[in-house]
Amino acid sequence: MKKLTPMALQSLVFSLLTILLVLAKTEPVLCEYTSIFSFGDSYTDTGNLICLYPNESGFHFPYGETYFGHPTGRFSNGRLIVDFLAQSLGLPLLPPYLARKSGQEFRRGVNFAVAGATALDNAFFEERGIDYPYTNISLGNQLSWFKELLPSLCDQSSSKSLFLVGEIGGNDYVYSFSAGRSLEEIRTFVPDVIDAISSAIQLVVKHGAVTVMVPGNIPMGCLSLFLTQFQSSNEEDYDPQTGCLRWLNEFSMYHNHLLQKELNRMQELHPHVTFIYADYYNASMRFFRHPHQFGFSKGSLTACCGGGGPYNYNKSLLCGNRGASVLNDPSLYADWDGEHMTEAAYKTIASYILQGFNDIPDSSHQYLTLITSKEYRASLLQNS
Ligand SMILES: *[C@@H]1O[C@H](CO)[C@@H](O)[C@H](O)[C@H]1NC(C)=O
Ligand SMILES: *[C@@H]1O[C@H](CO)[C@@H](O)[C@H](O)[C@H]1NC(C)=O
Ligand SMILES: *[C@@H]1O[C@H](CO)[C@@H](O)[C@H](O)[C@H]1NC(C)=O
Ligand SMILES: *[C@@H]1O[C@H](CO)[C@@H](O)[C@H](O)[C@H]1NC(C)=O
Repeated sequence: MKKLTPMALQSLVFSLLTILLVLAKTEPVLCEYTSIFSFGDSYTDTGNLICLYPNESGFHFPYGETYFGHPTGRFSNGRLIVDFLAQSLGLPLLPPYLARKSGQEFRRGVNFAVAGATALDNAFFEERGIDYPYTNISLGNQLSWFKELLPSLCDQSSSKSLFLVGEIGGNDYVYSFSAGRSLEEIRTFVPDVIDAISSAIQLVVKHGAVTVMVPGNIPMGCLSLFLTQFQSSNEEDYDPQTGCLRWLNEFSMYHNHLLQKELNRMQELHPHVTFIYADYYNASMRFFRHPHQFGFSKGSLTACCGGGGPYNYNKSLLCGNRGASVLNDPSLYADWDGEHMTEAAYKTIASYILQGFNDIPDSSHQYLTLITSKEYRASLLQNS
């Protein structure tokens, strides 16, 4: 498995370049060389849940106020990590699968991620009496959509595509914590969540994926949702450097540890596939540790949009509802609504993931422009 290091990314870019060079030799015109297929939850959903529930509060202003100027179904003020990935690959923003029009071809990829989705199927939560409030669509359902769509995708598409599987699993934990389950009990779910992610990876590999990017969990102990829910007078609960909940970040690391172990196993089983662990955890810890270096002058732990309280998070008055306030310029915050990040924070994470692109030798530039414009990369890297 390739860790998310500049080297690994460089090798990903080189494999894409190789594909381009091979195509350039055999075909006079470069056809579609790549696309993105993505699966996940609200960290990746670009408009699926909004098709099902147009009135959900996350689909009201000020969601989407940055960049788009209107709510799009993204749970942020602006673009998500997957949007920055798509733009840097010279691809259009990924269309949400549920908004497809009849006859629409997804030659440049499609997004199956649904906000609120869990890695595990509904039955897992039903058996344990845990609510899954936003949607009953799980990772397994997203894979069924992918399988239904396969016949309409051209033969070569999987081998020229980037498959983004995640972030997923975060909601499995959020719902379990919200239902009052203990850390000890929820830790026992982690291997099941990893198994579900692994099954998804195996399915896309079986259908020809050769580049699979799998994001880890973000540091959940830094989200204002949990900082509010698990507020504590015990100083020991907090990481003195960041103010994040130490035990909950340890939990996220546990998930990430098992996920990376599983990716290593997958890499051994499928040596022809490039597995990339997208390290959302460390990427975001940079701005949780040093918010000011990233322009988050209001800190990284207070929600920009919310219903008051010490972290501006109030589960009875969520962002998007009447009475919730937007504190200031969202680019000064990392935390958007207590559960999701701002466009500025996602851009920082995306730039961490794309760092390797900067190390490409000049001779490749004529091909590189097809992958990512230099100006675009430069603008992303400015704040990293
Ligand atoms: C959504 O809200 C609008 C206005 O508040 C209302 O007219 C409409 O019926 C609602 N739609 C659904 C599906 O609940
Ligand atoms: C989700 O719930 C809706 C409405 O109850 C139902 O029609 C649909 O079949 C369910 N989907 C899944 C994947 O369970
Ligand atoms: C990511 O963070 C974890 C936990 O702090 C650390 O053990 C690991 O070495 C970090 N990895 C990278 C690549 O920075
Ligand atoms: C949260 O919002 C509810 C409903 O508006 C309100 O009654 C409560 O006082 C708020 N809590 C905090 C801590 O602001």
